[in-house]
This record gives sequence, structure tokens and C-alpha cells, in this order.
Amino acid sequence: MFLRNLWYFAMPGRDLKRGAMTAKLLLGEPVLIARGGDGAPFALRDICPHRGIPLSHGAFDGKEVECCYHGWRFGGDGRCTAIPSLVPDQKFNIERVKVARYPCREVQGNIWVYFGDETGDPGDPPIVPELGDRAPGMNEAMTFPCHVDHAVVGLMDPAHGPFVHQSWWWRSRRSIHEKSKAFGPSQRGFTMLRHPPSSNSAAYRLLGGEMTTEISFQLPGVRIEHIRAGKHVLCNLTAVTPVSETETVVHNAIYWTQPWLTPLKPLLAPFARAFLKQDRDVVVMQQEGLRHNPNLMLINDADVQAKWYYQLKDAWQKAGTDGQPFENPVKAQELRWRS
Ligand code: FES
Ligand SMILES: [Fe+2]
Repeated sequence: MFLRNLWYFAMPGRDLKRGAMTAKLLLGEPVLIARGGDGAPFALRDICPHRGIPLSHGAFDGKEVECCYHGWRFGGDGRCTAIPSLVPDQKFNIERVKVARYPCREVQGNIWVYFGDETGDPGDPPIVPELGDRAPGMNEAMTFPCHVDHAVVGLMDPAHGPFVHQSWWWRSRRSIHEKSKAFGPSQRGFTMLRHPPSSNSAAYRLLGGEMTTEISFQLPGVRIEHIRAGKHVLCNLTAVTPVSETETVVHNAIYWTQPWLTPLKPLLAPFARAFLKQDRDVVVMQQEGLRHNPNLMLINDADVQAKWYYQLKDAWQKAGTDGQPFENPVKAQELRWRS
């Protein structure tokens, strides 16, 4: 079971043109995401309530989706608006026919879909601070052949850097040194409090100005690395969305306010991609072992964030079933490791 009552990153907004629709499998559910002629995205269950064919095989005119099988039409709110086979005196209340609608929002250039059990206000999707409604300078996504938990734990694992991401521009094995970072609880997760970034990252040094980093994590699997460099902000949003029990998409959106970075985009994109691929490659190899169902270990302090993730998940699920308010199990703490 995947965590519910949360926003999940569905796709970069720039990949969905006005009047277009696309089919996605998210949390094991078929979802049609479309952008109306008015520019607003919406999401529907991608199954025709008549005979179950995915609506995404049909047509979209920017207002209504038409099923390819018998031409039933549906608005962005999921209500049926037309059934072509009905003759005028046949009393069939088409308003009773509905396809489930998911709350869908576009925030800072990305489309998020809410998977919830309640009909109340789902609140806002995760928002990156200090960027207004700026869209990402760069988006990257990769499908990992693993359960969402392994992708999330990989995100917050500080000890794999010098091994998995060994490269001249990021980390070398020789650069390993002891680190101590202060953490505190946040709304649905925890934050590595603002600090000067690691001196062993050559890539950071390019930015110039006085630098500080804050890294936050929130359920279901959203990591925001927020770097201030002088008066500028560089930010990396990573959001992990399960496709199924065995497949997970890791989305990466990079934002910056430094104007000089924008023309360097074609140069930077391969690095972002290489970085994500290093994480993916190690997950592919890990699957070879996980197939045999081994017991796994989480050690202090390098794996404490992973422990927190599992505790947060339990607390979230418990709050969902008991109807109690969510209580964050994370306590403020200093963590030490070598990386
Ligand atoms: S299956 Fe969609 S209209 Fe019949
Ligand atoms: Fe990594």
C-alpha cells in the first residue's frame, strides 16, 4: 500500500501542452492528465465508466474527453456530458455518470496529483521557498526498477555519495571526512538545518558568494535542497512517485535565480542526468540481491534519516486509519557520519 492523502509529483508542466492529454500509471492507478484550453491541468481516472477502456485512447478538444469506444464525453470535473447512443425520449440521467477526478495542481512549473480518501481541501503541493512561481530551469526523470521505499531511502542516504557518485566534479573516495549536521522535525518530515555546504563538492564552488544549504524531506518522498549563494538561490527538488510496487519514477527539478546559469543549461543537463543514472544503476544492482529477500540493516548515524522515513510512514498511516492528527516522530538531533 502506498501512502495516501498526499500530493505526488506527476509530471513537469512543460511536457503537457494546452489541449493535450497524457496517460500515466501513478500508485498503481491509471490516471489521465490533461491541460484544458484555459491552461489549467486536471486529472481523471483513466477508465471509461461505460466499458472500462482507458479514456486516454479517445480524443480531447481542450474541454471534454471523448471515449474512443462509444463516444461518451466527460468534462474536466469528471461529469458525463454526452452519450451519443441515446435517442431524445430515452430517460437516462447522464449526470449520474461520473469518472473519478483527482485534485490536480500546477505549482512552480510542475503538475502534482493528490491521492486521497477524503473529499476535503487537500492543501497545497510542496512549494520551494524563495522562488515565487518560477518554473524549473531543468527537469529530469528516471524510472527506477524498485519499490518506492528503496528510491526514497537512496535519496536521503549520506554514505553512498563518495562511492556511487565518485567523479571529479563531485566526490572522490579520498574526500571522505567526518561530518556533523543538525536536524529538526518539519511539517511532514525533517530538515537538515541551514549550514555551509560540504567543502568536498567541486560543483558547489562554481556558484560563488557566501553559501549555505538546507535540505528538507517530507512525505511521501520529496526532498528539497535549497542553496543560497550570495543573493541567489539554487534549488534541487527531487520527488519520488511510485508507478507500481516494483517501479518508481524519480523526478528532478532544478531551479536557479543566477541569470548566468541559464545559457549553461545544455552543458549542465548531462551532469544532472549522469548523477541520477548513478543512483539508478546502483538500485538495479541492489535488485539482484533483494530478489532473495535478505534482512537489511540500518546503522547509526548514517541511516538515521532512513529510520525516520519509516517512522514517519508508520505515523502517517496510523493517523490515516485512526483519524488522529499526525504526530511527527522526529526529534531535533545532531547526526554524525563520514562521507
Ligand atoms: S466504453 Fe467508453 S463510451 Fe463505451
Ligand atoms: Fe545518490
